[in-house]
Amino acid sequence: MDSVKVGIVGCGTVGSGVVKILLQNRDIIEERIGKKIELSMVADRDVEKVKKLGVPEKFIVNDGFKVVESEVDIVVELIGGTTVAKDIVKSALENGKHVVSANKALFASYGEELFSAAFENGVSIRFEASVGGGIPVIKALNEGLVANRIEKILGIINGTANFILTEMTTRGISFEEALKIAGEKGYAEADPSLDVDGIDAAHKIAILASIAYGGWVTINDVYVKGIRDITPLDIDFAHEFGYRIKLLAVAKPDNGKVEVRVHPAMLPEDHILSSVDGVFNACLIEGDFVGPTLYYGMGAGQRPTASAVVADIADIACGRGSSVPVSLLKRGAKIPVKRPGEF
Ligand code: HSE
Repeated sequence: MDSVKVGIVGCGTVGSGVVKILLQNRDIIEERIGKKIELSMVADRDVEKVKKLGVPEKFIVNDGFKVVESEVDIVVELIGGTTVAKDIVKSALENGKHVVSANKALFASYGEELFSAAFENGVSIRFEASVGGGIPVIKALNEGLVANRIEKILGIINGTANFILTEMTTRGISFEEALKIAGEKGYAEADPSLDVDGIDAAHKIAILASIAYGGWVTINDVYVKGIRDITPLDIDFAHEFGYRIKLLAVAKPDNGKVEVRVHPAMLPEDHILSSVDGVFNACLIEGDFVGPTLYYGMGAGQRPTASAVVADIADIACGRGSSVPVSLLKRGAKIPVKRPGEF
């Protein structure tokens, strides 16, 4: 059986989940894909924490660049952010390593640079966990719906914001109380303003729009408004008129341009996305031949996100390549995006 060597950079919530899956389910994964997956190196500043997960000490390092320079085939970047993470990913690609990442901010900002670097170095990037946690929505858009022109994407793609709005709606608690609970449950980003101000959802819809429409859309192209100003009174009024308030991410083509936005929206209570509650995410994607399709599942949390990361490792082990359309592998792939005044 062929094998692939995997190195993880960053063993926080998601990285620990990846280690746990590989220790617990490696047999079934290897049986399915017909390849061996070797966890060869884990980089984290907290070596003791990684040892407690059952990783032998000789495989643990405290510097991510040691993983990049090692013999691994795949570098799994899970440190987040757009500074060190970018350097790690860039140098991994230049060292001929495939990359798996959950980093939406990185690809919504530097997707063009990083995917073209992957192409030029003959390696692949996959980033399923960057959108929708455990839901294979990138795979659906890039593969399952390849025969369709995408007419619309409507997404609830920030679990923390959806959890907060659900708690405010069902328990009548304040925004601040609900945010505190979301933080305790580990759903929110290290900086929760990314969740509540809509930036995290904007990163994710920029990625989905890029894949759907075949040119890079960046975070700067997305109109964004968050949920910070939503009060229990707004929620009560919406309910009185038969609506639910959701933080909605939208991408759709219009007259040769693409409209990409994130903002609170009033959805009729019988709309299929109105029943998506708590930390769950859902994406409603309409194709011109397939019609509406729905993708639903846990959008945040250790286990779902790690599940998507390991699926990408398996796909790369099977030689499935980068998880974007070929047009996105070349420099200069852009699409015209509508500005707020044009909506
Ligand atoms: N903070 C993010 C969310 C995590 O709440 O959806 C998953 O991307």
